[in-house]
Amino acid sequence: MHWSTLHLLAVTGLAAASAIHDPCKALESKIPGRVSYPGTTTYDASLSSYYSGQERALSPGCIFRPTNTSEVSQFVKLVTSADYKTNFAVRGGGHTLWTGAANIASGITVDMRLINQVDLSEDRKIARIGGGAVWDLAYEQLVPYNLTVMGGRIPGIGVGGFASGGGITFHARERGFSCDNVYGYEVVLGSGEVIYVDEGSHPDLWVALKGGSNNFGIITRFDVATIAQGNMWYSLLSYNYTNATLRAHAKAFSDFMKPKNFDSAAMMGVFLVYTGGEFLLSDSMWYTKDVEKPAVYDAFTKIPNLGGVAELDTTANVVKLFGQNIPSSEQRAFQLTFSFHNPDPNVYMELFKIWEKGVSKIAKVDSIFVEFLVQPHPVTNGTNMFGLTPGRTDDVMIDMTAGYANKADDALVQRVINDIVNKQRALLKSNGYLIDFIYLNYADISQKVLQSWGGDNIAKLRAASKKYDPNGVFQKQVPGGYKIPA
Ligand SMILES: Cc1cc2nc3c(=O)[nH]c(=O)nc-3n(C[C@H](O)[C@H](O)[C@H](O)COP(=O)(O)OP(=O)(O)OC[C@H]3O[C@@H](n4cnc5c(N)ncnc54)[C@H](O)[C@@H]3O)c2cc1C
Ligand SMILES: *[C@@H]1O[C@H](CO)[C@@H](O)[C@H](O)[C@H]1NC(C)=O
Ligand SMILES: *[C@@H]1O[C@H](CO)[C@@H](O)[C@H](O)[C@H]1NC(C)=O
Ligand SMILES: *[C@@H]1O[C@H](CO)[C@@H](O)[C@H](O)[C@H]1NC(C)=O
Ligand SMILES: *[C@@H]1O[C@H](CO)[C@@H](O)[C@H](O)[C@H]1NC(C)=O
Ligand SMILES: *[C@@H]1O[C@H](CO)[C@@H](O)[C@H](O)[C@H]1NC(C)=O
Repeated sequence: MHWSTLHLLAVTGLAAASAIHDPCKALESKIPGRVSYPGTTTYDASLSSYYSGQERALSPGCIFRPTNTSEVSQFVKLVTSADYKTNFAVRGGGHTLWTGAANIASGITVDMRLINQVDLSEDRKIARIGGGAVWDLAYEQLVPYNLTVMGGRIPGIGVGGFASGGGITFHARERGFSCDNVYGYEVVLGSGEVIYVDEGSHPDLWVALKGGSNNFGIITRFDVATIAQGNMWYSLLSYNYTNATLRAHAKAFSDFMKPKNFDSAAMMGVFLVYTGGEFLLSDSMWYTKDVEKPAVYDAFTKIPNLGGVAELDTTANVVKLFGQNIPSSEQRAFQLTFSFHNPDPNVYMELFKIWEKGVSKIAKVDSIFVEFLVQPHPVTNGTNMFGLTPGRTDDVMIDMTAGYANKADDALVQRVINDIVNKQRALLKSNGYLIDFIYLNYADISQKVLQSWGGDNIAKLRAASKKYDPNGVFQKQVPGGYKIPA
C-alpha cells in the first residue's frame, strides 16, 4: 500500500512534470496568445527592440505580452504560486542600458508595450497612460488639444521606467521630475491584487512610487498632469571643439545656472562628444514658451558656431527632431551619473579637461562614442523619494555615456569612464560642490542609487515594501533593478 502510493505519485509526477511545472506553458494555457518563445518573430522583435546590446543578449524562457491589467494580475498570481514560482522581469520602453534591468536570462519577461492607451479626463487635466506606453505616443495624441505631458526627449522612451525612476523633461525647471507630476497609479501588487494609488488612498505607496522603480509592483497605468502647451522653441547649435569654445561654454553655462538668471521655461544640455576620432561640442536648447530666440540663451548663441537648427514646433516634432542626433541603439553601452551645485567657470573647464584626457585612453576602442552631457537639474518641490532640497534652481546633473562595438572592451571602457567620473567627483567634492544624489534613470547598476537619497527615504521605501509586498516578490523574484537595501 505504502509503496504503491509512492510509486504512483512518482510516475504521475514524472510524466506530467514538464507540462505542469513549466510556467510558460501554464501561462499560455491560462491566457492564450500572449506568450512567445525563442525563435518566433514576436519573441525576436521584442528582444531586438531593447536599446542596448547587453539587454538584447538575455534570452528569457518566454516573453509575456499582456493586453490589460487583469492579465497582468493573473500573471503575477501564477508566477508567485507554489507550483510555478518563477523569476521575472518587467519591461517598458527598454531604454535602460545595463544587463537585466528590464530583461532576464532564465525566467519570464513581461513586455508591457501592448498596454499603451492614452485617455484624457473630461476636464483634460489628467492623461491616463498605459504602463507600457512610450511617451511619443502620448505627445502625438495630445498635440491636437494643445496639451503635453512630462516625458522623454527622444522617441521610444517608456513611461514605465522613466516616470517610476524620475524623468527629466523639457518642463523640468518649471515642474520638477516627471514623477512629481503623477497623480495616481494603477498597480498590480505581488499578491496579484490590483489597487489604485493616489495621495489620498495610499499616501505612503504614492510617494514611494516616485523613484521606487519596479520595487512595489507592476504599474499598469499612470495618471499624469497635463500641461497647456502650444509650440515650443528648440535649437541645436554645433561649435568647433576648441579651448576657446569650451571656455566660452564654461562661462555661459555657469552664468545660465545662477539663480539670478533662472528662467523656468529654459531647459538645455551641453554635449561634449567623442566619436569617429573627433571631439564635438553642441548645445540643445529648449524653451517651453512660444518664443523665438529666447534671450536667456544669448550667451550661447553668440559663441561663433557652425550652425544648426532653430525652430518653433510641437513637443511631438521636437522629440522626433532631437532624436535624430542620438544613436537609436547601442551594441554595448555604459553610463554613469552624478550631480553637483553650480560651480565657477574654471571648475567646468577642469571637468571638461578631465573628460578629454580620459577619453584619449579609449580612443582606439572599436566604434567608440562617448557623450558627456551637462544639464540643469529638475527643480523639484520634493514630491518624491530623492531627498533633494525643494526649489533649488542651481543644481547640475551629468550623464556620461559610452557606446562601443564589442563585449571584449567592456572592462576597459568601464574602467576609463569610472576613472573620469571619479576624478570629476573628487574635484567637485574638494570644492564643496558635489551632492550625494544619484539619478536612477542615468545610473549604472554599480552606483548606489537608493542609498544616495538618504536614510529617511530608504526607511520609507522599506516600510512601503513590507506593507504592500509582504512576501518580497519584487525584491526576490524580480532581480533586475535597484533593490531596497536591507
Ligand atoms: C537615448 C536615451 C535617451 C534618454 N533620454 C532621457 C531623458 O530625456 N530624460 C530622462 O529622464 N531619461 C532619459 N533616458 C533614460 C530613461 O529615463 C531610462 O532609460 C528609463 O528607465 C527608460 O524607461 P523605459 O520604460 O524605456 O525602460 P525599461 O528599461 O523598460 O525599464 C526601466 C526599469 O523600470 C522598470 N519598469 C518599466 N516599466 C514598468 C512598469 N510598468 N511597472 C513597474 N516597473 C517598470 C523595469 O523593470 C526596469 O527596471 C534616456 C535613455 C536613452 C537610452
Ligand atoms: C482582459 O483581456 C481578457 C482576454 O485575455 C478579456 O477576457 C478580459 O475581458 C479583459 N479584461 C478587461 C477588464 O478588459
Ligand atoms: C490650439 O491652439 C491653437 C493656436 O492657438 C488654436 O487655434 C486652437 O483652436 C487650439 N486648439 C484647441 C483644441 O484648444
Ligand atoms: C509639487 O508639484 C506637484 C506637481 O507640479 C504638485 O502637484 C504638488 O501639489 C506640489 N506640491 C507641493 C508641496 O508644492
Ligand atoms: C588647451 O588648453 C590646455 C590646458 O587646459 C592646453 O594644455 C592645450 O595646449 C590647449 N590647446 C590648445 C590647442 O591651445
Ligand atoms: C571651425 O574650424 C574650421 C577649421 O579649423 C575653420 O575653418 C572655421 O572657420 C571654424 N569655424 C568657426 C565658427 O569657428
